[in-house]
Amino acid sequence: MNAICQRGLFLTFEGVDGVGKTTQAQRLRDYLSVRGLTVVITHEPGGTPLGEAVRRLLLEPSAPHIGKRAEALLYSADRAEHVADVIRPALERGECVISDRYTDSSVGYQVGGRELSSLDIERLSEWATDGLQPNRTYLLDMDPAAARRRFVVSRETDRLELEPEPFQNRARRAFLDLAKRHRDRIVVIDASRRVDEVWSAIRTDVNALLATRKMGS
Ligand code: TMP
Repeated sequence: MNAICQRGLFLTFEGVDGVGKTTQAQRLRDYLSVRGLTVVITHEPGGTPLGEAVRRLLLEPSAPHIGKRAEALLYSADRAEHVADVIRPALERGECVISDRYTDSSVGYQVGGRELSSLDIERLSEWATDGLQPNRTYLLDMDPAAARRRFVVSRETDRLELEPEPFQNRARRAFLDLAKRHRDRIVVIDASRRVDEVWSAIRTDVNALLATRKMGS
């Protein structure tokens, strides 16, 4: 199994909807680019032509009903393609990949939200990715109801965002439980603070990470 890729740098952002992952991922991309690293910024579901089609199937409120096992498999199919076509090739070229969501989202949403077996989902993710894990994951954590208030006014709501509050709370708990089990990889960041403060916490950690890997100096 190919666990953490030794070439390149693989960073992911996780958290419930509306916590500000996309904004922080873009800041990190700009920061690393200025330091001379080649950065690929991507997202799940999506990130490949197949992935964008799967994303529409999974998230458009008008798409047909999907049972929770089929849903888990579709997220995995999207991920398998994403790893094979985008993430692993970039890492093998020695580049830095930033992904807005990855395997931990399946733990948050399919295990926490949908209450599927964590063993099944972890096995599925490992198979889909051929064991590829991020070097670092930033888990942006905040109360889902407060996070929801941020996006309800700003954009169209997708199918999972329409799930009731207990679903989002279970997802948050599953993310936090996972972070406790992977303290060496997952950094929990309090996302209820101002955007600049959240960014400052991420920047401090990423600088330390780059120093250990002697990159971007
Ligand atoms: P996004 O709004 O961050 O683009 O994510 C789309 C939705 O897909 C979000 O509500 C979380 C959900 N999702 C899962 O349920 N499982 C997964 O494995 C991934 C990657 C996303």
